Amino acid sequence: MRRFKTTVVGAGNVGSTLAQRLVEKQLTDVVLIDRVTDRGEGKTLDLLQSAPILGFDTKIIGADDYGPTEGSDIVVITAGFPRKPGMSRDDLLKTNMEVVQEVTENIVRHSPEAIIIVVTNPLDAMCHVVKKVSGFPKNRVFGMAGILDTARFRTFIAMELNVSVDNIHAFVLGGHGDTMVPVPRYSTVAGIPIPELLSQDRIDALVERTRNGGAEIVALLKTGSAYYAPSAATVEMIEAIMVDKKKILPCSALCEGEYSIDGVFVGVPCKLGKDGIEEIVDVRLANPELAALHRSAELVREQIVTVDRFMAEAAAAKAPKKKEPSPAKG
Ligand code: NAI
Ligand code: 2OP
Repeated sequence: MRRFKTTVVGAGNVGSTLAQRLVEKQLTDVVLIDRVTDRGEGKTLDLLQSAPILGFDTKIIGADDYGPTEGSDIVVITAGFPRKPGMSRDDLLKTNMEVVQEVTENIVRHSPEAIIIVVTNPLDAMCHVVKKVSGFPKNRVFGMAGILDTARFRTFIAMELNVSVDNIHAFVLGGHGDTMVPVPRYSTVAGIPIPELLSQDRIDALVERTRNGGAEIVALLKTGSAYYAPSAATVEMIEAIMVDKKKILPCSALCEGEYSIDGVFVGVPCKLGKDGIEEIVDVRLANPELAALHRSAELVREQIVTVDRFMAEAAAAKAPKKKEPSPAKG
């Protein structure tokens, strides 16, 4: 059987936990890259030494450069920085745009056929950066967030009703942030839509908690953000691609007309298989749901306009300056 090769860029909390989950499940060989010298190598050596205890044979390599990533099937970008005190959203957008741009240039050079899964925040805008820099087709560039947001909603529904999470399907659309759009009508317990099981007040409370799911964890951890559920969500996407599962999963995908949204990455249900996103599933929404999705997409569009401006400024700053003609002698 052909061995899959997955590169994870960023050996921080999400990246290293993702690498751990992938090798322990023996899904794919992994290369773990970080800009901090020896961080990727240190994490992978530790993981390798767990192999004899846990009994996995998957290969894992850590590196500071992209040489060992050559010919990766899938690349996951988790490299970036969190928002620091005093930093505006635009500052974060610019900082992580620069990181993601540099990472993407390296991916294109070493793995031109790869499928790229973006995790770095602000998620939907970073997908736009990767698509623009890589020039890859839209089926090969998409982001992880919807599975995480949906998992949070499923968890809260299961806790509320005291039932197994296995029984619960949930539906969350939109950008990864405060404007995400959980859709209770399409969220079910053993096939029963939750509006038949819970009062509107309780549904509203669970929706609100889902929207704040990331911030709730940041407040508890004090330093850093969630990584167990985000890494598990990314594994689900990788597995769907590797085994050509054709699984419908919410991903940040480039909409070109679907849901009447054009030219914006936003969370929508997608069919994931060996080619990446094989289809965006255009589900019929009620007017308020569609309006909420459009509001969310417009906020992503505003970020895209800002990020495009930053990229144009950076390109102009890098371009060689025109020489002033030297004054005529004599
Ligand atoms: P972290 O701070 O633990 O790790 C980030 C790593 O990226 C660090 O090791 C850093 O050295 C590395 N890095 C920075 N610039 C780099 C570059 N140019 N090349 C290679 N590596 C570089 O952060 P964590 O918790 O792992 O989160 C990573 C990103 O994922 C953040 O932007 C976070 O907001 C985002 N995130 C997104 C989620 C989603 O649902 N889409 C969920 C959780 C986190
Ligand atoms: C989360 O939702 C930080 O985006 C990350 O946990």
